Amino acid sequence: MTAAGSGSFGNDFEQLWKALAPIGRDDRTGGYRRYSWTPAHQECERWFRDEAGRRDLTVEADGNGNLVAWWRPDPARVTGGVVTGSHLDSVPDGGAYDGPLGVVSAFAALDAIRAGGAAAGAGASAPTRPLGIAVFAEEEGARFGVPCLGSRLLTGALEPDRARGLRDADGVPLTDAMERAGVPVDLGPAPGLLRAPSAFVELHVEQGRALADLGAPVAVARDIWPHGRWRFEFGGRADHAGTTAMADRHDPMLTYAMTALAANKRARLTNARTTFGRVRVEPNATNAVPSLVRAWLDARAADEASLDALVEEIRRQAGDRAQRDGTRLEVHPESWTPRVEFDVRLRDRVAARLGSPPVLSTQAGHDAGILAAAGIPAAMLFVRNPTGVSHAPEEYAEPADCLAGVDALAAVLTDLLAG
Ligand code: GLV
Ligand code: MN
Ligand code: MN
Repeated sequence: MTAAGSGSFGNDFEQLWKALAPIGRDDRTGGYRRYSWTPAHQECERWFRDEAGRRDLTVEADGNGNLVAWWRPDPARVTGGVVTGSHLDSVPDGGAYDGPLGVVSAFAALDAIRAGGAAAGAGASAPTRPLGIAVFAEEEGARFGVPCLGSRLLTGALEPDRARGLRDADGVPLTDAMERAGVPVDLGPAPGLLRAPSAFVELHVEQGRALADLGAPVAVARDIWPHGRWRFEFGGRADHAGTTAMADRHDPMLTYAMTALAANKRARLTNARTTFGRVRVEPNATNAVPSLVRAWLDARAADEASLDALVEEIRRQAGDRAQRDGTRLEVHPESWTPRVEFDVRLRDRVAARLGSPPVLSTQAGHDAGILAAAGIPAAMLFVRNPTGVSHAPEEYAEPADCLAGVDALAAVLTDLLAG
């Protein structure tokens, strides 16, 4: 029996997964809509609190919407614990695994550790440090636009005033959304929540096909590409779609369309990533030239200088085109995350514990990256995704690979908890 299957509380991975799986799934698309502090997301958090309660864990919250369930929170020991976990919110019509796999695997790994599971316990001494299972708020930024919002606020990477100004697509301020969901609000650094851990380990579904190609179920992360979001606003003049001669228009859709093509071409030429995945058009009528196109650029590159140059070039081309179209361009940065190299000593220790699995770079953002940038030794494990698809319903991991992930996490945590 695997460590994952030996949970002494009868809550092995499959049971945990089955309980969470229906929450927030859209029947039509098969994707998840677990937007922060909406009923679906609150139900996920209730599931988390219930599972923590069944294990006699103490759940603590900060004022940023983050939660940690502690095992053995020794009051005399306020630093040096080990924290694992991930997030429960999703992108629009996201997959089942991005985030929840790390939280479910954390509970299953804890069960295995407590049960003295074979893989987890082999050769390791008894845990001496407290273990926390974290759920970070608004990791995807799907509702309020800033990814890893909870971990940024927690670590002081985002000013509380900036967060107080965030609104969702319906104009609801962040703090109102939290209050309506009954979440305590006190935005800002909350070092007490994680208690200066000696290590943070996030298990995550792989969001590409590297492990499928390598034939390995689990990898360790090396680094995260720098990435960010920019809001492009193209202003024009609304007018009649039939009576306005083509030469007389000031159509911001044209400026946007050319900018999207330019961004795509630039990313291809520089081995970077650019995406315009979200667009809002005003007045959004079939028979009217638009007055405004708002489009969000997600850009990522291997290093910060390349990312800056990429965004600057897209902005330049958009500006040139706006002049030709007689439209106006504004570009507003919404989030920025520097390159993160995970702690090399921790990475080597994790890799050694797991028998030297593949070590992968990732282009996806994670709370582990935010914690690493704040000086917390952090590591990540990736679980093979045979489709390679992510942020979409086709995101997948085989049950056997999920259990391999739990075994790996349990082994790593056991090692870190021992000293
Ligand atoms: C988070 O999933 C991201 O957008 O990278
Ligand atoms: Mn994601
Ligand atoms: Mn994620």
